[in-house]
Amino acid sequence: MGIETKNLQIKYGDKLILKNANFRVNNEEIVTIIGPNGSGKTTLIKALSRYIKAYSGNIYLGGKDIYTIQTKKIAREMAILPQVKHVSADITVENLVSYGRYPHLSFGKRIGKDDKDIIHWAIEKTGLVKLKDRYIGNLSGGERQRAWIAMALAQKPKILILDEPTTYLDISYQLEVLELVKELNQSLGITVIMVLHDLNQAARYSDKIYVLKDGEVCQYGKPNSILQTKLLKDVFRIEAHIYEDKINDCPYFIPHKIIEMSIID
Ligand SMILES: Nc1ncnc2c1ncn2[C@@H]1O[C@H](COP(=O)(O)OP(=O)(O)OP(=O)(O)O)[C@@H](O)[C@H]1O
Ligand SMILES: [Mg+2]
Repeated sequence: MGIETKNLQIKYGDKLILKNANFRVNNEEIVTIIGPNGSGKTTLIKALSRYIKAYSGNIYLGGKDIYTIQTKKIAREMAILPQVKHVSADITVENLVSYGRYPHLSFGKRIGKDDKDIIHWAIEKTGLVKLKDRYIGNLSGGERQRAWIAMALAQKPKILILDEPTTYLDISYQLEVLELVKELNQSLGITVIMVLHDLNQAARYSDKIYVLKDGEVCQYGKPNSILQTKLLKDVFRIEAHIYEDKINDCPYFIPHKIIEMSIID
């Protein structure tokens, strides 16, 4: 399933945060949003998941105006891993994962055998079998992140939205999460939209990258066309050498200089 925005504008109070964003993710693509802190990445993701309302413009989910679709139906199609998560520490991994089934339950219905099978599948897929009875509060950052991903998977979404899924994770967990996302995309055909700060990881794991700067989409395209010295300079204020990663068939860069912000800026 795909998702698209047309001239999307978002305001917080009087302040225009997202300006005329045209954003398109095709079915079964992995699209990553990159951009400096405060550039509007989370705002865009919240709008896509209908968590905040558009000031103007449109959002289409599978070709349908998102504001005409029932909330429960959206929750069945789309799972979100938010940047900031709220949950009490004293629920078990299995309980957290079971929340993912709620959008699929009919009114008044309890979790049934099919739901339990899916919960178990999500727990297995994220390597959490041995941890399923542990409390969320007693897990390491990486284990907890995997539990959240398992909950999103239990939703059996067509679109998975992940806001900085690798934050707080050590390098092996970061790669584990990104490999899992890639595997889910390839084996189950799940469309993925994520926000990453590590541009080399974005280049390695994305079919397409959108670059946000000051609330505007300033560029988008395949990793090869996006990761250029000019973009690194203009958007991220770094000078870098760009190389080719032959093993993963993508560009990668090594920064060597930070460009100072001018006082006027
Ligand atoms: N609830 C809010 N009320 C007012 N302003 C907000 C609110 N949420 C975000 N903002 C502002 O909107 C702008 C975009 O924020 P957003 O969270 O989308 O950035 P981001 O690109 O996700 O940044 P980061 O990389 O730090 O997560 C920022 O200037 C932020 O201060
Ligand atoms: Mg953010």
